[in-house]
Amino acid sequence: MALLEWKDEYKTGVKEFDEHHRHLIYLLNKAYDDLQNGSLADTLDTLLDEMIDYAIYHFRAEESWMEEHQFPLHEKHRQEHARFMSRVSDLHTDFLCGEKKINLEVLAFMKNWVEQHILISDAEYGRFHSQS
Ligand SMILES: [Fe+2]
Ligand SMILES: [Fe+2]
Repeated sequence: MALLEWKDEYKTGVKEFDEHHRHLIYLLNKAYDDLQNGSLADTLDTLLDEMIDYAIYHFRAEESWMEEHQFPLHEKHRQEHARFMSRVSDLHTDFLCGEKKINLEVLAFMKNWVEQHILISDAEYGRFHSQS
């Protein structure tokens, strides 16, 4: 069972970002599978690296797009990205220091954030895009 299944509601209408979101969901599901299979300890570091790299890439792409299209909620959106990155970086640091293991709680945090962010904040630029 997947942690998060793609739904049409996640579509923003900006094709490039819909593809990015599918990939983010794929990474989350991969981590969830690893957790179920008990192989997560080996792959967590790679996964967090991959999540962080991909999130940076995706957030930058969205932020450039919002700036280019003069999206009015750009700044608020940028701050949401920054808060998420800071939380994920903390988790990564804790993990590298051996203080924490990845567990369902960490994955649930990421899953909930990604899902809510897509449905609420990314949907806002989707509506803006469809009106312009
Ligand atoms: Fe976003
Ligand atoms: Fe996004």
